[in-house]
Amino acid sequence: MSHIPAPGESEVNTSSRRKLWAERTHDQSTRKMLADDAQYFLRQSVSTPCLSTIARADGAYIEDTQGRRYLDFHGNNVHHIGYGHPRLKAAIAQQMDELPFAPRRFACEPATALAKKLSDIAPGNLSKVLFTTGGSSAVEVAMKIARAATGRHKSISFWDAFHGAGFGAASIGGEQMFRSHAVGPLLSGTQHVAPFDCYRCPYGYPDLNGKPQLELCKLTCANFVKYVLEKEGDVAAVFAEPARAVPYIPPPGFWAAVRQACNEHGALLVFDEIPTGLGKTGKLFACDHDDVVPDILVLGKALGGGILPLAAVLTTPELDVGENYAFGHYTHEKNPVSAAAGLTTIQIIEDEALVENAAKLGAIALQRLREMQSHHNVIGDVRGRGFLFGIELVSDKDSKIPANDLAEAVFYRCLDKGLSFKISMGNTLTFTPPLILTEEQLDFALTVIEESIMEECKLAGLDT
Ligand SMILES: Cc1ncc(COP(=O)(O)O)c(C=O)c1O
Repeated sequence: MSHIPAPGESEVNTSSRRKLWAERTHDQSTRKMLADDAQYFLRQSVSTPCLSTIARADGAYIEDTQGRRYLDFHGNNVHHIGYGHPRLKAAIAQQMDELPFAPRRFACEPATALAKKLSDIAPGNLSKVLFTTGGSSAVEVAMKIARAATGRHKSISFWDAFHGAGFGAASIGGEQMFRSHAVGPLLSGTQHVAPFDCYRCPYGYPDLNGKPQLELCKLTCANFVKYVLEKEGDVAAVFAEPARAVPYIPPPGFWAAVRQACNEHGALLVFDEIPTGLGKTGKLFACDHDDVVPDILVLGKALGGGILPLAAVLTTPELDVGENYAFGHYTHEKNPVSAAAGLTTIQIIEDEALVENAAKLGAIALQRLREMQSHHNVIGDVRGRGFLFGIELVSDKDSKIPANDLAEAVFYRCLDKGLSFKISMGNTLTFTPPLILTEEQLDFALTVIEESIMEECKLAGLDT
């Protein structure tokens, strides 16, 4: 139990830098709240003990109990429409008055309306839906559908991926933190392959400023999926995030090649769009960038508008094979209040043109970060799409040695300046702002990021 897993999708909560930051930042009342939290909640890596306290969440900001406001470039990817959107709060209040709950055996209008809306906006013919209260459960419903529809149980997924904390979801996930030691044997038949990561290609191929050299690598990462599909011969499905939330962006042609390999080997393709769905990447779904339609698509997080817990599994009528079984059957699967929240959230995203905003400002962000990269030797890689973008800090561009300590130092300095985000894989500053972000807020954040990198490099005597 004392083993410390490799860095995953969030920064560790027990580092000496965090301790120092907390000591100089928290007042008595904050310390008391954190101590109470630590006393009653089970400890967990990356969450409890907590970083700080929160008193308010409003629009693009969170505020702590000492009145400090942070522009929230993390938001657990739930805050697409901003926290506490007035139209969403009104819709939820109205729904609570009209019909607060629906036992599963009774059809209710809001749940049907949301299911219809999702089937209208989803790619391809993903027109059959099940709701759950969380992403992990939705992923596991997808696993069950894939097994039942194919009569096979094996899966292929990617190392480093996160699909949730349940046993099934952790089995296809690729993060040590959720898989190893304490929790014991996971599901059998869950094969993993190395992910696409053009900056640090697991297969050793060189990149050019983070861009894949396709004539050299010939998409070995996709070919390996094909290889395992062929060798196993009876894989039910490939599970993946179409763009990884860390972020990692697939090389051109990756998903088309995997889709084709799945078709050739009778395997389904399941896209986990829990963080990326509903516009995060500047298109409604991340898979729209690659023009590849999965057999099953999983949504979550922002679907509940940042207020209610809601996730969804979408699939085709052909895969509606569980009529004599119960793959979901969650108590709140047709909760009218959550469903009204989901429908209103999508309407807000459409009416306020939030996907377009993420595409436009995301492109500006990437361009500015690339300019920064050209000036600073410690910015090894810049990557992203829409409002899913990040930078890898390294000791220098040639060695690419991950600068984990610098990343942490920059993180705490940014917090001091009013910007919150998270660190992934130890050295990647990961930015996932809400889709309502304004250009001024983006400008503020990018200025804070650059200043903080420069100031921390100076402190550490590093050549920026
Ligand atoms: C890609 C991905 N899949 C699944 C999940 C799990 O969702 P939940 O925490 O709602 O169970 C997450 C949550 O961070 C995620 O990012």
